[in-house]
Amino acid sequence: MKTIPDNWSKLPFAYYPTNYNVRCYYRDGKWGELEISSSEQIVIHMSASSLHYGQESFEGLKAFCGQDGKIRIFRWQNNWERMNFSARGILMPEVPKEIFEQAVKDVVRLNREFIPPYGTGASLYIRPLLIGTGARLGVAPADEFLFMIFVAPVGPYFPTGFKAVDVKLVRDTDRAATLGTGQYKVGGNYAASLASGQKAHEEGFKMVLYLDAKEKKYIDECGPANFFGIKGNSYVTPNSSSILQSITNLSLCTLAEELRLKVERRKVPVEELSDFTEAGACGTAAVITPIRSISDKEKGKIYTYGNEPGEWSVKLYKKLQAIQLGDEKDKYGWVTLL
Ligand code: PLP
Ligand code: COI
Repeated sequence: MKTIPDNWSKLPFAYYPTNYNVRCYYRDGKWGELEISSSEQIVIHMSASSLHYGQESFEGLKAFCGQDGKIRIFRWQNNWERMNFSARGILMPEVPKEIFEQAVKDVVRLNREFIPPYGTGASLYIRPLLIGTGARLGVAPADEFLFMIFVAPVGPYFPTGFKAVDVKLVRDTDRAATLGTGQYKVGGNYAASLASGQKAHEEGFKMVLYLDAKEKKYIDECGPANFFGIKGNSYVTPNSSSILQSITNLSLCTLAEELRLKVERRKVPVEELSDFTEAGACGTAAVITPIRSISDKEKGKIYTYGNEPGEWSVKLYKKLQAIQLGDEKDKYGWVTLL
């Protein structure tokens, strides 16, 4: 049995071994039975399509422990839908809803002692994975696949927590092509972002802001998160064919409307960065990461948004967390109680 963390509130966002994971194999054109494993290893063919040709997708969602001691899983249905959207995009079989649901619930239940207690700021990160395991040498989809889920107790994506960070706008790298795989949650997009991410980190930035690959005119993705800005009474977020449809962003749009902000999902020209009073990155891991500055070195510009998280970022962050933790009524039906 693996060790339970002794300091929940100091957990980083990192892999942490837990007791069990769940797996389901697709062979001969059909999904098998869900299996429980306590091994951290998987055995796959050296010529598996996922290893050579990137035929794989993953997801990220979280479970929270409320003040009432109940476990809440946030919007797993959306992650299931998005995983199958990615599957269709790169020719993998879709995972049936019953298998995905059972897998999420089983893996959380089986690792119950690893769910961070209420008030620690930590949560249980749930990582579903769908990979081509069938051997291929020519570029072609596999005929065998593995769907699995493991979990890890995690703290905030940035160790500083809900603190404003500095972001680097890059013009020399694209994360995804305009009509490429950016809207799918596939490993290749992340591989494409590693070098620019590392370079930005070495220069003291926490995240990279990418522009649209075709015209380099519009804001695209913000590292492993969607971008949003506050302008007057509007919550503005990019509409693009090369970004992930963030479930956090979707939730924030709903909450922004509830807070009487106007939601604008549209192309966001780079110049508009100077109109925002607040900017942020949002995602399951990032939650809301407020942005302090965006440096566009090539154009010699720095856009600044203040050292502290802005008023609307704070309101949205608190509201989202309150729903996830069960402190506020789940009126949109986002939470599944275990
Ligand atoms: N964009 C990218 C590239 C991501 O990796 C993520 C993380 O999942 C997001 C956006 C945010 O999506 P979500 O809010 O569904 O986690
Ligand atoms: C998430 O927010 O769940 C993600 O998948 C981001 C991840 C790449 C750390």
